[in-house]
Amino acid sequence: MKPEEINNLLMPFSVELNLETGEMLNPKNHIVRKASDMKGYYADSDALNNLIEKKNDPLHYEVFEVPVPAESGQLMYCISKLQPGKIGDEFFMTKGHYHSIAETAELYICLRGKGYMAMKTSAGKWNAQKMTRGKMVYVPPCWAHRSINTGKEPLISFCVYRGDAGHNYGDIEQEGFPKRIFERGGKVVIE
Ligand code: F6R
Ligand code: ZN
Repeated sequence: MKPEEINNLLMPFSVELNLETGEMLNPKNHIVRKASDMKGYYADSDALNNLIEKKNDPLHYEVFEVPVPAESGQLMYCISKLQPGKIGDEFFMTKGHYHSIAETAELYICLRGKGYMAMKTSAGKWNAQKMTRGKMVYVPPCWAHRSINTGKEPLISFCVYRGDAGHNYGDIEQEGFPKRIFERGGKVVIE
């Protein structure tokens, strides 16, 4: 098909990132997750409730997007910014998801901070890749994924995936991940 025959032909466009801070300068979507959005995700739910009450439900993570049509052939991309901190001994993390089209791969590039990309399959396989500035992590099809911030500054990454992938949070809400990442005696412990 010739480009002229495609309905609603998308015009090329640009988006600016500040590579120092990792921020997207003019996002159209800004998704904000606060501590209270994370109920049920951490091992120590009392510690989470304490944080929500005593620190006035602080910011947990954000996603910045300039969305494209949710169609195959398009590439959706975003900046993910996860605050540093712990719930009890467990490092701050994102909820984690599969994609609605499970056979979606996703590419992450860590721009700032340090931590892990934890991944699991519905059959119970588990893997974690270290995230540090300049590290690119490939999340293959069918792997649920979540970021975990083990550092002292925000963990910021760029990600890209097929435009019609969608997100499936429900399965991870039910299944969780087989391993968690804690700080024990000043060390990062995965168990
Ligand atoms: C998109 C993607 C990331 C995450 C972001 C927040 O497919 O993987 O942009 O959406 O890191 O994490 P979740 O979506 O798990 O709350
Ligand atoms: Zn994803």
